[in-house]
Amino acid sequence: MKAIWYETPGVAREVLQFGDRVKPEPGPGEVLVRIRASAVNPSDVKKRAGAQPAGFVDGYVIPHSDGAGVIESVGEGVSGDRVGQRVWVYQAQFARHCGTCAQYVTLPSMLAASLPENTGYDIGACLGIPVMTAHRCVFSAGDLSGKNVLVTGASGRVGYYAVQWAKMAGARVIATAGSEERCRVAAKSGADEVLNYRNDHLVRDILGMTDQAGIDHIVEVEFGMNVGTSAAVIKNRGTVSTYSSSLAPEPAIPFYPLMFKNVSVNMVLVYNMPDAAKEQAVEDIHTALEQARLCHRIAGTWSLEETAKAHRAVEGGGMDGCAVIEIE
Ligand SMILES: NC(=O)c1ccc[n+]([C@@H]2O[C@H](COP(=O)([O-])OP(=O)(O)OC[C@H]3O[C@@H](n4cnc5c(N)ncnc54)[C@H](OP(=O)(O)O)[C@@H]3O)[C@@H](O)[C@H]2O)c1
Repeated sequence: MKAIWYETPGVAREVLQFGDRVKPEPGPGEVLVRIRASAVNPSDVKKRAGAQPAGFVDGYVIPHSDGAGVIESVGEGVSGDRVGQRVWVYQAQFARHCGTCAQYVTLPSMLAASLPENTGYDIGACLGIPVMTAHRCVFSAGDLSGKNVLVTGASGRVGYYAVQWAKMAGARVIATAGSEERCRVAAKSGADEVLNYRNDHLVRDILGMTDQAGIDHIVEVEFGMNVGTSAAVIKNRGTVSTYSSSLAPEPAIPFYPLMFKNVSVNMVLVYNMPDAAKEQAVEDIHTALEQARLCHRIAGTWSLEETAKAHRAVEGGGMDGCAVIEIE
């Protein structure tokens, strides 16, 4: 099969190789998926760059956790009814050698979820990390109907979907983005209000938009950068679900303002969220796709041979949506 792989972490154009690898066979409990689209997420490029060298598996790595395609065969214990099913796959390269950046991948049957007929493989490839993370960050907060939710960085891949889940949950959503242009992008998510997070009067504006009541739940992309604002705008017993703090990886937190409000901070890592939360996310994604209730953005597509270019584009940031590798 045609595939992209790397044998040592490093710069994309130096370490990513394109060529032939042996087509895998599904083991017990696994499915073999003929991949048609593979998405590039920030965690894929961070892993390839060597962000967690201790976690590097020996040998080669076929990158990318998310993808979509068709089940070609199944291993022992998996129903033959699955053969021919269109699927989106997630976590293909979490603690495993071989991800979706190839014509074929084998993985546990649970990680290949049914893809509705109305949804293309390109969109299917973008569901795993962005949409599941957003789902967890919203629904781990319980019933949000009628609540005020703040989604920071709603122009980003995860934030854009977090706004949509929060709206489906019945919340009033205030979103932030980093420029006028990015605010226009974020507004397309369906947020009720969008604010520029670089404004000096962000706290005043957020409180004003809630009639001084404050925010019940925050979905946070840059925890350390925004925790001062969070502490100022959150209600008593408010909650924060955060999935990243890349600009301030060891944040200093305003302990007492948060403590006096009984704030709960929930760290989210999509890869090892509880199985029940994964199953609920898969079910809700399926329903939302069938009902065409999610709005998606593909920022760019590349061929398998061009994967290094897609990695560079994701590393550059500021993309308006997901980066997809189309696989023939
Ligand atoms: N924990 C997990 O399971 C998990 C899952 C998915 C992603 N992640 C991580 O989450 C991060 C974002 O992923 P992504 O795919 O959504 O990336 P992305 O599409 O590049 O989005 C990043 C967003 O962060 C926003 N941002 C930057 N600085 C900000 C600030 N000070 N306040 C508010 N927003 C700010 C950007 O806004 P502007 O562009 O408008 O400035 C942009 O919307 C990455 O580090 C990724 O590795 C973690």
